[in-house]
This record gives sequence, C-alpha cells and structure tokens, in this order.
Amino acid sequence: VTVLSVRVLRWIVFAALGASMAAGLVAWRNVRGEAPLDAPPVVPTPALVARGAYLARVGNCMGCHTAAGGADYAGGRGIPTPFGTVFAPNLTPDRATGLGAWSAAEFWRAMHNGRSRDGRLLSPAFPYPNFTSISREDSDALYGYLMSLNPVSQPNRAHELRSPFGTQAALAVWRAMFFEPGRFEAEPRQGAAWNRGKYLVQGLAHCAACHSERNAMGGVRAAFTGGAMPGEAWYAPSLVDPKEAGVQEWRREDVVRLLKDGTTAHAVVSGPMAEVVGRSTQHLSEADLEAMAQYLASLPVRQKPRPAAEPAPVSQLARGDELYRQHCADCHGKRGEGVDGIYPALAGNRAVTLDSARNLVQIIRRGGFAPSTAGHPRPFGMPPSGQMLPDEDIAAVATYVRQSWGHGASAVSALDVRQLD
Ligand code: HEC
Ligand code: HEC
Ligand code: HEC
Repeated sequence: VTVLSVRVLRWIVFAALGASMAAGLVAWRNVRGEAPLDAPPVVPTPALVARGAYLARVGNCMGCHTAAGGADYAGGRGIPTPFGTVFAPNLTPDRATGLGAWSAAEFWRAMHNGRSRDGRLLSPAFPYPNFTSISREDSDALYGYLMSLNPVSQPNRAHELRSPFGTQAALAVWRAMFFEPGRFEAEPRQGAAWNRGKYLVQGLAHCAACHSERNAMGGVRAAFTGGAMPGEAWYAPSLVDPKEAGVQEWRREDVVRLLKDGTTAHAVVSGPMAEVVGRSTQHLSEADLEAMAQYLASLPVRQKPRPAAEPAPVSQLARGDELYRQHCADCHGKRGEGVDGIYPALAGNRAVTLDSARNLVQIIRRGGFAPSTAGHPRPFGMPPSGQMLPDEDIAAVATYVRQSWGHGASAVSALDVRQLD
C-alpha cells in the first residue's frame, strides 16, 4: 500500500466519521428538551377557554391560520419565506383535517419544540422559535380554546418550497443551527410588569419574528434590530433604534396608544403592522400593553452607523416639490404638518426618514389604511398613486419628503423604486 492511498483511506474514514457525528448532532439537537407525551388531559373550563381566546389574540393565531375569505382558523393562508410558501394548517378541532385528535401534550410539543403530532419537524414560518418560551399553562389554555371552536373540515394545503428546502433533512439542519427550545427567564431585578412585557413581546406576540435582521438562511442575526420581511416588500424597522421603530424616547402612553389605536400624533401603523394592531394588540388589556411598553422602552439602544446623505439633484427636488403640492399637500399639509388624528404629519415622521425607503415607496405606490380600532374607528385611507405616477415621479416625491422640513435621508432613484417592487 502506498503512502498516498493510506492518506486517502485515512481521509475517507475521517470524512465518514465527521459526517455521522454531524448527523448525530443534528438529530440530537432536534429532540433535546422534548417532554414526554403522557401529561394529564386539559379540562376546558369556561375560564380556561376565555384565557386561551385572549392568548390567541396576543399570538395572532387567526391572522395566519385563516385564508382570505375562508373559515376562521381553518388554515390555508400562504406565508412567504425565503424558500417558498408555507401554508398554515387547520387548527379547528376537526378530527380528520384539524387538531381534533391532538392531545394537549402534542399541542405543547408543537408550540415549544416545533414538532407536529406525527413527529414531523415544522417550518419556522410558524413562529415557534418565539412561541417556544410560553408557559405550559398558556399552551394548555390555547389548546382548550382551539378545541372549543366549531370543527371545520378543510384538508391542509401542501407547502410550495423550492427543493431541497421542503425536506425534513434541510429543516433538521436549519433547526440545529438556529433553533433553541427556550424557557422564559424572569429577570429578578425588574418588576412584575416589565417581566410580563418581556414574556409577551419575546414569546406569544412574536414581535421579533418580523422586527429582526436575518441572515441569508433566514436565521435571526440579532433580535429586534430590524429587517426586511421575507417575500414581502416591507421593512420591519429596528426596535432598538429610536430613529427607526425604537420607543426608548417615547412617552409610555404614546406607545400604548400606538398599539391600541394604531395611531399617535407622530406615527400611524401601516401594512403588516396595521394587521398586527388590527387583529392582535388593540384587543390586549391596558395592563398588558403598559407592560409591553415598559419592556420595549428598556431595550438597549443599538444604532447602525448612518452616513450623511448626499443632497438630491436640484431638478429632482423641484419635480418632487411640484408633485407633493399636486398629490400630497391637500391631506398632509404644505409643510408636512398633517391634520391631528386624521392625516399623519410627514415632517418628523420616522416612516419617511428610515434609512430604507421601502415602506415609503410601498405607501406611495399602494396607498394604505390604518386599522379600524376602538380609539380610531373610522380611519381615513390614503389612495394609491402607483397607477398614476411613473417610477421617476414616485422617486422624486419620495426624495422630496425625505429631504424637506429638516430631514436628511438619502435620495431615492427610479431604479430603487423599480427594485422595491
Ligand atoms: C406568522 C404566521 C403564523 C402565526 C402567527 C401562527 N402560526 Fe401556527 N403555523 C403557521 C404555519 C405556516 C404552520 C405550518 C408549519 C409547517 O407545516 O411546517 C403552522 C403550524 C402550526 C401548528 C402545527 C399544526 C400541524 O398540523 O402540524 C400549530 C399547532 C400551530 N401552528 C398553532 C398556532 C397557534 C396556537 C398560534 C397562535 C399562538 C399560531 N399557530 C400562530 C403559521 C403561523
Ligand atoms: C408581521 C410582521 C410584524 C410583527 C409581528 C410586528 N411588527 Fe411592528 N412593524 C412591522 C412593519 C412592517 C412596520 C413598518 C410599518 C409601520 O411603520 O407601521 C412596523 C412598525 C412598528 C413600529 C413603528 C411605528 C412607527 O411608525 O413609528 C413599532 C413601534 C412596532 N412596529 C412595534 C411592534 C411590536 C411591539 C410588535 C409585537 C407586539 C410588533 N411590532 C410586531 C411589522 C411587524
Ligand atoms: C386623500 C388624502 C391623502 C393623500 C392625497 C396622501 N395621503 Fe399619505 N396618508 C393619508 C392617510 C389617511 C394616511 C394614514 C393611513 C396609513 O398609514 O395607512 C397616510 C399615510 C402616509 C404615510 C405613512 C405615515 C406613517 O406614519 O406611517 C406616508 C409616508 C404618506 N402618507 C405619504 C404620502 C405622500 C408622499 C403622498 C403624495 C404622493 C400622500 N401621502 C398622499 C392620506 C393621504
């Protein structure tokens, strides 16, 4: 045997050993922390069911698990991911197509470990990487509530994922790298309200599922740092940057108002955040919203470096000025001052000056509706301009509002607008 072939042989042995160890590690990381499935059944008292209904609002389970025009909780809505579309399943207690045959322990394993009843690993388009830290009591209450719904027979739709991302092996690797079954850790130096806020924001309310920067594989890089929403044209701004969506410098009551009414004097929620307020946070108790506001205000500030923006060409600003007077000033005011409670001010508005012009372009192009809430029952809408204005004009008016009234945000080009479609 030559020296060379011994080396080759050694390599082959090493590679095989390495591969089997990696496979073993992936397998182990995917089952650790799983509780036995023999817990006692949950007794669905009216109080437990009511509590579960409230928690389902916090988690906005209905938002994802209901198709447009479909029966509540019967599934079928497609959730875009970087790898394709994952369809939310039927959560009604139908035995054949929903959760009817599930035990509370199997439900807990789905919420806490991201594993379906049949043992299948679930896609993180289901935000179990956030839900994992909820308590067993809250999981049981959610289970009790879902079991109290009317069963709807609606078979689940197969996911549409690019190969190999739909496979269990790919999911197992993803989970080994990016998922850790968690448990809520109370911070003893903080009060009960702050801890309740942390529990809600990090867990069921899954704010970080949208508001986090992700890597190319869809793993969260750092919670709350802001990120583009996968498969959608929206950017969920950073909750740790007061220049984006951070509320560290806000009055506590304004944060509560934003989550309850969807609007404050300086901000309106739009797009996916309008849905969060409309379906979820507006229904939360004042105490829970206070708690969330307290926790959000305490998030340590982390600002991205923001290089000074180049002023836009004079001709683009002049065109933007003309378009603004024609298409925007009637509602938002000549100096972007808005009309309190009706049309949001654009001067000093973070939705205008965000580093990323994504949301601004979306709003100009598609228009928008703030959610209808008890505190703001009949919001005025903003008409879409996408049909009326070519990309050059959208860029010009966007640039104008980003560089007027003391704003110093970067200019937007027609190419930027096209790429943000
Ligand atoms: C952002 C969208 C989204 C939200 C919010 C969401 N889900 Fe889901 N859920 C999904 C998707 C997508 C799947 C399918 C994952 C898969 O099949 O790999 C899923 C799967 C599940 C499953 C597994 C069902 C099965 O048949 O395997 C359960 C249980 C579940 N969700 C419960 C909930 C509950 C309870 C809530 C609210 C607390 C909730 N979900 C909120 C998107 C969501
Ligand atoms: C489905 C994705 C999604 C989820 C979940 C989500 N957000 Fe947002 N959020 C967004 C997007 C997109 C925006 C930007 C649009 C806007 O300003 O309304 C936003 C904006 C915000 C803003 C800035 C509002 C402004 O104009 O200043 C705050 C504050 C905020 N979110 C807080 C939260 C909190 C707290 C939670 C959890 C309860 C949460 N978000 C959950 C997507 C999401
Ligand atoms: C008919 C009245 C009307 C016109 C015209 C109008 N808007 Fe709006 N705009 C609104 C309303 C109402 C909202 C709040 C609804 C929402 O956020 O979805 C809004 C929201 C916005 C927002 C989001 C503010 C925030 O806090 O998130 C921006 C940015 C914006 N408009 C810019 C413009 C620009 C630029 C134009 C001109 C191209 C324009 N609007 C034309 C009524 C109008």
